[in-house]
Amino acid sequence: MLLNRLKLNLINMGDKIDFLLNGEAKKYIINDDDITLLSLLRDEFNLKAAKYGCGMGQCGSCKVLVDRKAMNSCQISIWDLNKKSVVTLEGLQQDAVFLKLKESFFKENAAQCGFCISGMLISCYSILNKKIKIDKESVSKELQENLCRCGIHHKIIKAMLKVSM
Ligand code: FES
Ligand code: FES
Repeated sequence: MLLNRLKLNLINMGDKIDFLLNGEAKKYIINDDDITLLSLLRDEFNLKAAKYGCGMGQCGSCKVLVDRKAMNSCQISIWDLNKKSVVTLEGLQQDAVFLKLKESFFKENAAQCGFCISGMLISCYSILNKKIKIDKESVSKELQENLCRCGIHHKIIKAMLKVSM
């Protein structure tokens, strides 16, 4: 975190950062050296969809969209957030693509826990918005960073593929 700050050499403790959160302009005064985007979302903005799983960038349960890219929010420092756009699962509730995805997850029974699933949905949404060929192999590869400990990855992939058809 400190390295990021030194690299930027622009923002200091007590400075204000500006960013977009689910389409709304937000400001935040940096008063702690070690805050991640995940803790900012959950603790300061009461957005609880992104979950703390491993805290090490290895499970994907904390994924959100940063500048339209699915990223692990536990690995993003607030020092790196200035002028960025962040979208959480809460911010997609009226989005047509997301609504189709959600319906497909329900139909395919592709969610067994409430823990990994918001990260899965964010990753799937991001894949649908990428200009890539969507098939079983490409989706499996894209979802490698999202761990499902109960073994229903195949259902998640099926739900995802149905939306892309
Ligand atoms: S909590 Fe962020 S990747 Fe696991
Ligand atoms: S559905 Fe969440 S860990 Fe498998």
